[in-house]
Amino acid sequence: MRKMKMSVTSTAILSAVLSGVLFMIAPTQKSFAAADMSAAELKTAKKEMRASRKEIRKVMKVARAKVKQAVRGSLVYKTYCVLCHGEKADGKAITTVGEGLSLAINKQTPEFFEKIVRGGGSAVGRSKFMPEWGDELSEEQVKDLVRFLSMVTDPQSRGEVVFKTNCILCHGVNGDGMGRASVLFDPPPADLTRSDKTDLYKKLIITNGGEAMGRSSVMPIWGMELKDAEIEDLVAYLRSILVVPWPGE
Ligand code: HEC
Ligand code: HEC
Repeated sequence: MRKMKMSVTSTAILSAVLSGVLFMIAPTQKSFAAADMSAAELKTAKKEMRASRKEIRKVMKVARAKVKQAVRGSLVYKTYCVLCHGEKADGKAITTVGEGLSLAINKQTPEFFEKIVRGGGSAVGRSKFMPEWGDELSEEQVKDLVRFLSMVTDPQSRGEVVFKTNCILCHGVNGDGMGRASVLFDPPPADLTRSDKTDLYKKLIITNGGEAMGRSSVMPIWGMELKDAEIEDLVAYLRSILVVPWPGE
């Protein structure tokens, strides 16, 4: 299993994605258990493998483009925004701006981000201490910034990154339990799109591993590798991929 520490924000998250992407393109395993398969089964298995490789390539391509854009955005952010908004966009920065205004950047629509970045606070009825950047930044820099802000302020997007970096080999790129290694395990990795477990249960099994919950020890312990906040983000992401009703907290 990969060992990896990630910070939930800025470039760390993005370099994590990049290494996740590299992880995804690791060579495929040989046709395991070939001896026990009939020729027809083998053919089907190979076909499925090709299909899943194709799907992974497609997901990677989109992920890579998004990540590249967000990485560029993080550089623009570092240059122009850190001083007021802080490294993590949480408002913990060197500068404080009058009247105890919070400088944390919250989850907003891309349209809002674009508008306030281009036109400054007054363009959206907010503090004029938020400068306008429309003249200073290129079209591309603004788009890159918006991608970056959307990623770092959304628990689901952050969780998706953590998931795609650590979990897809078993649980599949879509979380449906069809990862490339899934056939090796019995019981198989859970189909997380159809989980009937609560958020709390998921948090516990992710943190402490399958065995601690009386399940298969194949489900690893992540509590040492991932931060609490990253596990919270994962749980938020898992909620977003459910195709069955959410059972609640
Ligand atoms: C001189 C300090 C300063 C700098 C530099 C600055 N901002 Fe701001 N920003 C502010 C202030 C003050 C607000 C709060 C406005 C309010 O709440 O009325 C704000 C608010 C925001 C918001 C809205 C946050 C929310 O959740 O409501 C976003 C988004 C934002 N800034 C993005 C940026 C970006 C991107 C940059 C760099 C290109 C940047 N800011 C640079 C001072 C700054
Ligand atoms: C080495 C393979 C493997 C990896 C990697 C893995 N899992 Fe699992 N996971 C499993 C298996 C197997 C089960 C089912 C255990 C059982 O049924 O006894 C499982 C079960 C789960 C469950 C329980 C779901 C339910 O509805 O019961 C959750 C949640 C989960 N995994 C999340 C994750 C997350 C998040 C990651 C990445 C941080 C991850 N897993 C990585 C193999 C894996």
